[in-house]
Amino acid sequence: MTSGRSMDDGESDFDWSWSDEDPTWVPPDIDITKPSPARMYDYALGGKDNFESDFDWSWSDEDPTWVPPDIDITKPSPARMYDYALGGKDNFEVDRRAVEQVATVLPDFRRLAQINRTFLKNAVRIMSEAGVSQFIDVGTGIPTSPNVHEIARQVHPDAKIVYVDNDPIVMAHNRALRATVEGVITVQHDAREPDTIIGDPAVRRLVDFHQPIGLLFVAVLHFVRRDLAADVMTRFRQSIPSGSYVAISTACSDGMDPAVVSKVETIYQSAAAQIVFRTGAQIEQLFEGLEIIEPGLKDVTKWLVDEPTPEIHVTAGIGRKP
Ligand SMILES: C[S@@+](CC[C@H](N)C(=O)[O-])C[C@H]1O[C@@H](n2cnc3c(N)ncnc32)[C@H](O)[C@@H]1O
Repeated sequence: MTSGRSMDDGESDFDWSWSDEDPTWVPPDIDITKPSPARMYDYALGGKDNFESDFDWSWSDEDPTWVPPDIDITKPSPARMYDYALGGKDNFEVDRRAVEQVATVLPDFRRLAQINRTFLKNAVRIMSEAGVSQFIDVGTGIPTSPNVHEIARQVHPDAKIVYVDNDPIVMAHNRALRATVEGVITVQHDAREPDTIIGDPAVRRLVDFHQPIGLLFVAVLHFVRRDLAADVMTRFRQSIPSGSYVAISTACSDGMDPAVVSKVETIYQSAAAQIVFRTGAQIEQLFEGLEIIEPGLKDVTKWLVDEPTPEIHVTAGIGRKP
């Protein structure tokens, strides 16, 4: 077989469907040990002509200088920083350095990531037990077990989940989920543009907007400008029916030394997304039109945590649309 396709190609040269009989067979001139930009693109488009190396980059530990072409490693990425804070390996030097810098003023940054995940798990469980079986997880991050679909499906085995993020590295990892799990999709959109998410045909096919929906904004709204966030949340709230829930956790400046707030915001100035702290009152505004359920708006360290630990300045809460 020659590479490329011409009028003289026989069908076997471009139709590999016969190889479904032997899914391990790979044409001899295809190198599947390294990602190929074409196959990565195919994968990104939801195609199936790609191999594990196109979305699983763990092999790149062997060649630490190689970086996928659409990943910018000159700037820290909040998704990769968070992955590092959670002990993951899908991050680069620039991300690790940024986390270490944040840790100089917020020594609890790593604990913050862990406790924030506890809030996410509690939120999905509470909503599921209240009858919600479809979720849109905005700013989902690099997959971390248990994922939203795993938690929701303990209550509703056929729960539908939409994962949303705007970071290409998150997309690459999450699309592996979509390929294998029925009723779970990943879409690349920006949280600041609610209509692109709500109006995405793939989202509309999976989610019934006449049935209660669980919207998750866990550790993402602090990447949305203060003056924009209220409108963003209003638009999301309008799109969901009564009986839906919205979970939010976001950085809170109450009780913090303003110099520390300013230092953290400065560190994120060079990142792919900039962090903004809000006062407790500003966070409450994000829940406008919703009934805040127990235990209310609290620092995540106190949100259904058995042994509350010192506050980490991330406020969490869940609102129900009446
Ligand atoms: C700190 S992580 C939180 C991940 C997950 N929600 C959790 O709490 O475990 C923030 C995530 O939000 C994503 N993000 C930041 N700004 C975003 C935006 N404007 N639109 C969509 N995703 C965004 C980042 O790429 C990252 O994956």
